[in-house]
Amino acid sequence: LKLFGLIGCPVHHSLSPLMHNDAFQSLHIDAHYHAFHVEPHMLKEAVEGLKALQCAGFNVTIPHKTAVMEYMDELDETAKQMGAVNTVVNENGKWVGYNTDGEGFVRALCEQMNIELSGARILIIGAGGAARGIYFTLLKHEAAAIDVCNRTMEKAEAFIQKERSAVYSLEQAEERLGAYDIIINTTSVGMYPHVDTMPISLQTLKTGTIVSDIIYNPLMTKFLQEAKEKGARVQNGVGMFVYQGALAFEKWTGIFPNTKRMEQLVIQQLG
Ligand code: ATR
Repeated sequence: LKLFGLIGCPVHHSLSPLMHNDAFQSLHIDAHYHAFHVEPHMLKEAVEGLKALQCAGFNVTIPHKTAVMEYMDELDETAKQMGAVNTVVNENGKWVGYNTDGEGFVRALCEQMNIELSGARILIIGAGGAARGIYFTLLKHEAAAIDVCNRTMEKAEAFIQKERSAVYSLEQAEERLGAYDIIINTTSVGMYPHVDTMPISLQTLKTGTIVSDIIYNPLMTKFLQEAKEKGARVQNGVGMFVYQGALAFEKWTGIFPNTKRMEQLVIQQLG
């Protein structure tokens, strides 16, 4: 039996064990995935301990995605660029750190919404870790523009490539939503429906725009709800969650699992 896992703090709410164990079972792979609660001050010991136990690979979630990098034996280019690791593979006793978050988002966007990115004008709201991961993955595609707006504009200015992207304040972005084909919310605004409102107002949104929110709990944020009412095609964060997991699974086993099945399982739990 091969051992896989997740380290995070907290992790008790994670749907990754359900998703991966179901995929192992349905593919008749003799493996088990467990969520390990790891306090930040025990991160080094946890990573070493997993190696001692011959763990075959693990996912990394909040708050360890950046801190775990220093305990990797190797880092792939994407993880380096993003400054974060979400997937670790035991390659002949070496921990190799990858990041499947950005690729997970982009694959989910293209496959679930049935679109191509060439020529698309894209706006990312937010400039945190998630935004950076998505931004650098989008750069590999032929989008016409990948602009970023953020409450703190300097944070976006620090990582964008000026030839491909402009940075806007949230207020500026609100006025020019009509210029975009795809709008992506990467901020945490909307995760707590009773206190939060919206990252930006959607008054100028045009019908038919694709609006995506990386939040998946709640399944429908106020942002997506309003976008839908304005005639947008909307997508929640379940797709990104499922595809980042599927891409990790593929790195561990060589098999890309059934994402539809994973998605159904996740929605069942959250719905
Ligand atoms: P993650 O790694 O998940 O992206 P993060 O690095 O904490 O998380 O980034 C959170 C993002 O949400 C940031 O873009 C943040 O804006 P600032 O850079 O200005 O802090 C954004 N954000 C969080 N709360 C917000 C709020 N109430 N209004 C607007 N933006 C908010």
